[in-house]
Amino acid sequence: MQGSIGIFDSGYGGLTILEQIRRKLPDYDYVYLGDNARSPYGNRSFEVVYSFTLQAVKWLFAQGCPLVILACNTASAKALRTIQQRDLPQIDSSRRVLGVIRPTVEYIGNITCSRHVGILGTPGTISSGSYPIEINKLFPDITVESQDCPMWVPLVENNEHNDCGADYFINKYIDRILCRDKKIDTLILACTHYPLLEKKIIKAIPVNVKLVSQGILVADSLADYLYRHPEIDIRCKKNSECRFYTTESEEKFASMASIFLKGKIKSEKAHLE
Ligand code: DGL
Repeated sequence: MQGSIGIFDSGYGGLTILEQIRRKLPDYDYVYLGDNARSPYGNRSFEVVYSFTLQAVKWLFAQGCPLVILACNTASAKALRTIQQRDLPQIDSSRRVLGVIRPTVEYIGNITCSRHVGILGTPGTISSGSYPIEINKLFPDITVESQDCPMWVPLVENNEHNDCGADYFINKYIDRILCRDKKIDTLILACTHYPLLEKKIIKAIPVNVKLVSQGILVADSLADYLYRHPEIDIRCKKNSECRFYTTESEEKFASMASIFLKGKIKSEKAHLE
């Protein structure tokens, strides 16, 4: 039986990943799930993020998805490994769950010249230490500085990210990380919500600092994965359809998502348990 590729995020941020994936792989079918009723995940404990993410994965599997992308760094950092290693063999070992951290880490080794990299993420992602650990496994010569940005996701979830009030919180976290390590030449937007703040962040950083967002990296990595795994690819439907689900109000999700995706969408309600 064929099914859609599932894309999961705590809220709207994963839409930035979905957009790039659909650009790269337009023939495939997708189901997007935003757990907006319980977003943000960024300040939540390991146990809570893990249990919410597992519920989301099970729900997407119940929709028939053979493959689920956790388009959320917080969920990738706190839940992915346990789901892959402990839960998947019990639920259905023929399905796959992938995250967004690995494709990002693989890419940065080739773009930093100073070998000093900054990570911007939610408190959950930063406290997990996942980025420094994964980067240093692949590139032991890179120095990693991390900064949590607890106010950035709420700005996006409340559609305040283009307002001038957002500048204060953008400058605050950028100044902190660049002051701690003046050799940083690459900053990673390690949260799928942050591309929505990208224009303002670019204004806040020196011109010699590169800003990396994950959408294209995750899309390229998924295309490569499907090419290398024909047994999964063959189970993915290819009618170019996309459905959207939210745990919050369908109307609110549809109107916000339409702003982020710059096109009208319809959304349906999902009940996670
Ligand atoms: N978009 C998510 C991420 O990439 C998380 C946002 C949140 O719920 O705090 O980390």
